[in-house]
Amino acid sequence: MTTKLNVNGKTVSVNAEPDTPLLWVIRDELGMTGTKFGCGAALCGACTVHLNGKPVRSCQTPLSAAAGQKVATIESLSRNNTHPLQVAWIKHDVPQCGYCQSGQLMSAAALLTANKNPSDADIDAAMSGNICRCGTYPRIKAAIKDAASTLRKA
Ligand code: FES
Ligand code: FES
Repeated sequence: MTTKLNVNGKTVSVNAEPDTPLLWVIRDELGMTGTKFGCGAALCGACTVHLNGKPVRSCQTPLSAAAGQKVATIESLSRNNTHPLQVAWIKHDVPQCGYCQSGQLMSAAALLTANKNPSDADIDAAMSGNICRCGTYPRIKAAIKDAASTLRKA
C-alpha cells in the first residue's frame, strides 16, 4: 500500500503497511538514519520527530497517522549545523555517546518554536521524556537556554 506524506518539506510516497512504525519508514524506507531506535516503547525519546510541529515518538506512531501530514526529522534542522540549537550543542559540547541526541534536539526544537524564553521548569517539562544514559542533562539545559537567547535576538 502506498502512503503519501511530507517529510522535511518534500512529498514522499512510501510502500509499507499502515501500521509500520514511522521510525522504520524514516530509517529503512527513506534512508534517513539520524532518528534513533532506543526502547521501541515510547519510553526513551531517542526516536523523537515532529508531526505537524509537535514532538512524537516515531517508534509508536504508525505510518497511517502520518498520512498526508508533515513530518520533520533531525535532518531538517539544518544541513550545516547552523540551527541555533546545533550551534549551542556544539558550543556546550553536549553529546557524550550521542545516541539520544537527535531526539533531544527535536524535543528542544519543538519547545523553542513554542516558547523562546523557557524557564527551567518549562525545559524540564518539555525534555522529561528524553532519557540520556550519559547524563548530559545539565549541558542540554545550558544549550537550550543559549539557543533561546540567540533566537530572541534574531
Ligand atoms: S525508541 Fe521510541 S521512545 Fe524509545
Ligand atoms: S549522550 Fe549518550 S545517551 Fe545521551
